[in-house]
Amino acid sequence: MKDTIIKILGQFPQNNRGSLIPLLQKVQNLEGYISSDAIHAISTHLRVSRSTIYGVSSFYSQFRFNPPGRNSIKICLGTACHVQGGDFLLNALSLEIGIKPGETTEDKRFDLERVACLGCCALAPVMMINNNIHSRMSVIKLREILNRYA
Ligand code: FES
Repeated sequence: MKDTIIKILGQFPQNNRGSLIPLLQKVQNLEGYISSDAIHAISTHLRVSRSTIYGVSSFYSQFRFNPPGRNSIKICLGTACHVQGGDFLLNALSLEIGIKPGETTEDKRFDLERVACLGCCALAPVMMINNNIHSRMSVIKLREILNRYA
């Protein structure tokens, strides 16, 4: 087990289910994602089954189970973006880079996440890559924009 995980576990009492969410948050903050090794260690430490941990953590979209890519793509599916074709954009993007939300491309170039609102609804549909907002997105613009990110 990684030293980081051992240190994090040491900060939380054993057999205490109430520590699950803060523990997962801490692991994700320090590791960038929650690995299956970390899930196993948390399960043993808190005496909570792995299926419970996956169930709880998949309820919260903040948790990811794959290592992040070099570039993180967020597709907004909030109301304004949904109405302007956010789902269509997400499907086209998934096909283009070959992954679904929550996954990372094999070459680690991109990871993909869908979000509820990026706070710039007037620019819908919106895609964010790293900290860059790409507004009034269309499928036609996708490939050219992706090419800017190595
Ligand atoms: S709904 Fe997409 S930015 Fe608000």
